[in-house]
Amino acid sequence: MIGRLNHVAIAVKDLDAAVAGYRDVLGAKVSAPVDHPEHGVRVVFVELPNTKVELLLPLGENSPIANFLERNADGGVHHICYEVEDILAARDRLQAQGARILGNGEPKIGAHGKPVLFLHPKDFNGTLVEIEQA
Ligand code: CO
Repeated sequence: MIGRLNHVAIAVKDLDAAVAGYRDVLGAKVSAPVDHPEHGVRVVFVELPNTKVELLLPLGENSPIANFLERNADGGVHHICYEVEDILAARDRLQAQGARILGNGEPKIGAHGKPVLFLHPKDFNGTLVEIEQA
């Protein structure tokens, strides 16, 4: 069912430092920061030949990233995102298999303008999984 790895998201406390690490130390192409207040994040995309890394900085008081950074002082991998062809069919299949969908089960529009859902980390080896309609 799942297809390409769309991105790996890394929560960071210092976006400038994270950008410098990817751009200057690792030699990657990075985007300008984009704010997504509806998701409580400021995002920089690291563009790799086969996928993307998203550097997530908390934005606003209710950012879901802020809680994560309280538990992970150095930052860390926040979630990974797989593409699916049909997000509603994917949701129904996952629920039929007993996987838990976070929130109300209805897809939201993610940082790329496409419908996304998040799956409970306890069902996937302690990793928060995002699925995005390709
Ligand atoms: Co994501």
